[in-house]
Amino acid sequence: MRYQGREVDIEGRVRLVMESALTARDRVGVQDFVLLENYNSEAAFIENLRRRFRENLIYTYIGSVLVSVNPYKELEIYSKQQMERYRGVSFYEISPHIYALSDNTYRAMRTERKDQCILISGESGAGKTEASKKILLYYAVTCPTNDHMAILGDRLLQSNPVLEAFGNAKTLRNDNSSRFGKYMDVQFDFRGTPVGGHILNYLLEKSRVVHQNHGERNFHIFYQLLDGGDDDLLITLDLERNPQNYRYLVKGNCPRVSSISDKNNWKVVMKALPVIGFTEEEVQKLLNIIASVLHLGNTQFGEGEEGDTYITTETQTSNLAKLLGVDGSALREALTHKKLTAKGEEMISPLNYEQAVSARDALAKAVYGRTFTWLVEKINQSLALKVHSKDSSVIGLLDIYGFEVLQQNSFEQFCINYCNEKLQQLFIELTLRSEQEEYETEGIAWETVQYFDNKIICDLIEEKHKGIISILDEECLRPGETCDVSFLEKLEDTVGSHPHFITHKLANGKTRRVVSREEFRLLHYAGEVNYNVNGFLDKNNDLLNRNLKEVMCQSDNQILSHCFRREEVIDQKRPEMAATQFKNSLMKLMEILMSKEPSYVRCIKPNDAKQPGRFDEVLVRHQVKYLGLMENLRVRRAGFAYRRRFEAFLQRYKPLCPETWPNWHGRLVDGVSTLVNHLGYKAEEYKLGRSKIFIRFPKTLFTTEDALELISCFSELCYTNFGMFSLAEYKIFLGVNVCTCVFRCVVIVIQSGWRGMKARRRAKRRRQAAELIRRFIKGFIYRHEEYCPENEYFLDHVRYSFLKNLRQNLPKSVLDKSWPTPPPSLVEASEHLRRLHMRNMVIKYCRRVQPEWKKQVLFSSRLQINLKVIQTLGSDKVQYGVSVIKYDRRGFKPRPRQLLLTNTFAVLVDRTKIKQRIDYAALRGISVGSLSDGMFVLHMPTEDNKQKGDAVLHCSHVIEVVTKLAMMANKTSYVNINPGSIRFTVARGKEGIIDFIRGSELKVAKGKRGHLLVVSQRLF
Ligand SMILES: Nc1ncnc2c1ncn2[C@@H]1O[C@H](COP(=O)(O)OP(=O)(O)OP(=O)(O)O)[C@@H](O)[C@H]1O
Ligand SMILES: [Mg+2]
Repeated sequence: MRYQGREVDIEGRVRLVMESALTARDRVGVQDFVLLENYNSEAAFIENLRRRFRENLIYTYIGSVLVSVNPYKELEIYSKQQMERYRGVSFYEISPHIYALSDNTYRAMRTERKDQCILISGESGAGKTEASKKILLYYAVTCPTNDHMAILGDRLLQSNPVLEAFGNAKTLRNDNSSRFGKYMDVQFDFRGTPVGGHILNYLLEKSRVVHQNHGERNFHIFYQLLDGGDDDLLITLDLERNPQNYRYLVKGNCPRVSSISDKNNWKVVMKALPVIGFTEEEVQKLLNIIASVLHLGNTQFGEGEEGDTYITTETQTSNLAKLLGVDGSALREALTHKKLTAKGEEMISPLNYEQAVSARDALAKAVYGRTFTWLVEKINQSLALKVHSKDSSVIGLLDIYGFEVLQQNSFEQFCINYCNEKLQQLFIELTLRSEQEEYETEGIAWETVQYFDNKIICDLIEEKHKGIISILDEECLRPGETCDVSFLEKLEDTVGSHPHFITHKLANGKTRRVVSREEFRLLHYAGEVNYNVNGFLDKNNDLLNRNLKEVMCQSDNQILSHCFRREEVIDQKRPEMAATQFKNSLMKLMEILMSKEPSYVRCIKPNDAKQPGRFDEVLVRHQVKYLGLMENLRVRRAGFAYRRRFEAFLQRYKPLCPETWPNWHGRLVDGVSTLVNHLGYKAEEYKLGRSKIFIRFPKTLFTTEDALELISCFSELCYTNFGMFSLAEYKIFLGVNVCTCVFRCVVIVIQSGWRGMKARRRAKRRRQAAELIRRFIKGFIYRHEEYCPENEYFLDHVRYSFLKNLRQNLPKSVLDKSWPTPPPSLVEASEHLRRLHMRNMVIKYCRRVQPEWKKQVLFSSRLQINLKVIQTLGSDKVQYGVSVIKYDRRGFKPRPRQLLLTNTFAVLVDRTKIKQRIDYAALRGISVGSLSDGMFVLHMPTEDNKQKGDAVLHCSHVIEVVTKLAMMANKTSYVNINPGSIRFTVARGKEGIIDFIRGSELKVAKGKRGHLLVVSQRLF
């Protein structure tokens, strides 16, 4: 019997089941927040996120919600193999991943035949767009496909870079920030093949076209065009390459971003456009529009004397008109005048300078915004379902801005946060609905869940006639003087008493300090946000002068004539205000989402510096709060923390009960009931439904998990120590109280385990020794062969031994010529080492030479040569001279002499007299001892009768004098180092001997055997 914490499926893939990950909870936290013991604690929540983030585990569940922390680095978790790991595996059986969520959604769509949607939210830079791309890629790779569908998959993927080029920009928070909300439907046929797609876009941040904050950029496409477009294209569009020349691109003072290659991205976009179905002409028209926006930005105005305005950049305007495909003079007129209708009569009135500037900017925003909408429509045409089938289902992907709380929050943040309120409402409604449905199907009584229902805030914003949006619209439409402040006053009058609305005037002392006079504060479900009313009316109006619209309707650029419809001008009815438009599109979105089964991805940004590995707790806490994650968790945990189907629960925990082990033959519910009774679950800890067990507290589950862990360790120990133990024995073991039994057994197990381990170690050592001897002998036999597996151990050993021996017996002095004999394979290396070592010793010796030694090399400073001797030597100049002691060859009497070296011979001088001349050519050798005695012998030819034998000399600079002599005589190879003794010729074939003995003091004297005995220290 042996329980393995792993399951191996048919294809042999090892799946880490979710419960086995429970055992790793101390190190990497829990992989589902519902298992957090202290689920009300924000600190515990964040600590769990941090622990997992530290281990690069960026995904964690809250039930079916996936929380994702941006790693800001490439992780090896998105490969094709990873996709395969997650394919077809149920949600809880494998570690949390965006692929698990994608796969689960896909399977739910196929098996339940119900449309699905994945809602991705989070603040800017948290990784929403990356997550949505990963989901799309997962479907493109793993879903069944055919040739036709491959094209569609390609289009789906290629639509991303195009949308990003036109809808994304570099902001302070994200270098590739999506400046619009996106909902994308992917349609699948009955086989699960993607067959179509559709995109809805929300609230493009048009104000970016004309203004960017410091450090931010306009939409990527402008920079891509200038950097990547070839020269001819730029000439056609009348553009220069430098973005600094365009006023709409310099507001943020940030034309280049190191993480972005505009040139490469341009190429990607240009390649993607034809894939999505853009014709060459359409691409050209699109680029004309992009260029025209840049020219619009450079259109400047002057002020006439009567307050009227005229255009100062004439050529610019002509080019602009050409690119927009409109009449130049009509455009000029429309940019500087407005058309009014009063009492059925049309009047033209000039614009002042500010009005002209804002009309120009309004036109740029309208042109860009509408072109973006056209682009999305165009992509939709290319993704549209070609063959309609009844059985098609849909997965929707919503990549939308999460709660946004900036230093200054304006109209945009108001819309974004309103959108998040709506999504939270949807979340509560759908989560509770699905919880309730599950309880109903399982036959468990519904228990009331305590949570905050944010409907009250949604009503405050959207209610007809009474909501903030209605009041804003009213203020925009109302005749008479209206402004942002009058809007604020109107709000105070109408919704001032609402518990979620505060202004400076309405606030009490403490709050008043943090709400300025131009702000109103909304108490959102996720926290408070102050909104500054400045610009609310303008942004809501989003007005474009009628005469500008008329000009644009005339455009011969098909894209623009599609964007600016003639009906718009003819129709006198005012178009819907921006906030109302947004509200209506949100309503539609909610309808779409309500009709689907939702899954959620909540993205979190771990730091503001876009750095990997940094977890900024304050920032994360802020997001946990504003993403409403604690609220999410509370709703999820309101009932039961954990639920499992009976068969899965029984399968995992049956080893814990003798009745259920190894198999339960009765009804599943009875098996589970028997099991939990045996485990001692209390009634309030769990409930049994029709097909599932519901466990209320994570603690109950963890205790069960710990018991399982203990038992599997124990049974493994028993198995390895005693071999298989019988079912009856195991049942007895289980029958006893687990703790008592384990306690008793553990002692025996530890004892026997310890003994076994010692014996095993001994046996292992014996085995290793025998193996070693065998290899050694074999190596010895093959030692003369080439290096091969048979002799490698032996040869390595011989080498190693030689080097070890050498290390201990290295020669200690430059005169010591001994060197251990190397094995054949190391001869060359040994010679290298010998030379290196010798050089090293010589360097060391040289370093030890004292300055006074060096001085002594100049013999003139230490020798006084008699003038007579110099005269005798005549033209043979003395090159080197040194005092020496000459020992008589027979009695070894010491006599002071001078040894003088000329270029061709050396002489021994006794004051004024040259006693002996030694021709270099006749010199037979130079012998020295290996101690620091200073003795040396000059060997003379025996046949030379003039010489009385070899000269036995002593000099305190023996190395120097020998070196000098050997070099001048050109007889360096004649120098012999004799460690023990030197033999020398006395006269006519007779020999004398110098014996060297090591001692502490230098002594030269005649020895017992008639040898000259030299006692000295080692050289060094
Ligand atoms: N799973 C991931 N792995 C590696 N890097 C990631 C991941 N998710 C996000 N990033 C990094 O974070 C950056 C920002 O991510 P992304 O553009 O998806 O944010 P966002 O939530 O869509 O922000 P915005 O609301 O501004 O559009 C990416 O460009 C990428 O560098
Ligand atoms: Mg994005």
